[in-house]
Amino acid sequence: MDLKAHIRAVPDFPKPGILFYDISTLLAHPAAWKETVDRLAKVIAPFKPDLLAGIESRGFLTAAPLALELGLGFLMVRKKGKLPGPTVPYTYDLEYGTDTVEIQEGAVQPGQRVVILDDLLATGGTLSASVELLRKVGGEVAGGACIMELSFLKGRDKLDIPFESLLQYD
Ligand code: PRP
Ligand code: MG
Repeated sequence: MDLKAHIRAVPDFPKPGILFYDISTLLAHPAAWKETVDRLAKVIAPFKPDLLAGIESRGFLTAAPLALELGLGFLMVRKKGKLPGPTVPYTYDLEYGTDTVEIQEGAVQPGQRVVILDDLLATGGTLSASVELLRKVGGEVAGGACIMELSFLKGRDKLDIPFESLLQYD
């Protein structure tokens, strides 16, 4: 199945000049979405995960069905201030300013093999920050995967983990 045919490209969103690859149309098509999840399951199998992490918010949509299919636990990497109880933060640099991602304390046991999922790899900033956050609590980040990769941004070069994407855009 041609999964790219199920992804809508929206020009000038969220800013003029940006072409936004929208997975809403993929999610709305049960057969295409099922195939997406099945293909992700195949590419992450060699990473031998104990646990899957999804990055807010579209990474939740990507990781949660996969965790269910693989019989694995799922944890949320969230933007600051969204998770209840004690949390562990990681702050990283953006082009202008900084951003912070968090997980709940105890969400990862030291030595657990975690695989991180998101819908899209662009600059790689969000994914590499999530890798550092999971390492901070002793997780072994075994790999990462996304549905889409904007290859021309070379986000992959920022990652020091094995990484797989299903669809590449130049
Ligand atoms: C988008 C996308 C990835 C991230 C990729 O999320 O879903 O999470 O940006 O960009 P990067 O590789 O340059 O860091 P966004 O911040 O738009 O939030 P959302 O998932 O909550 O819509
Ligand atoms: Mg996102």
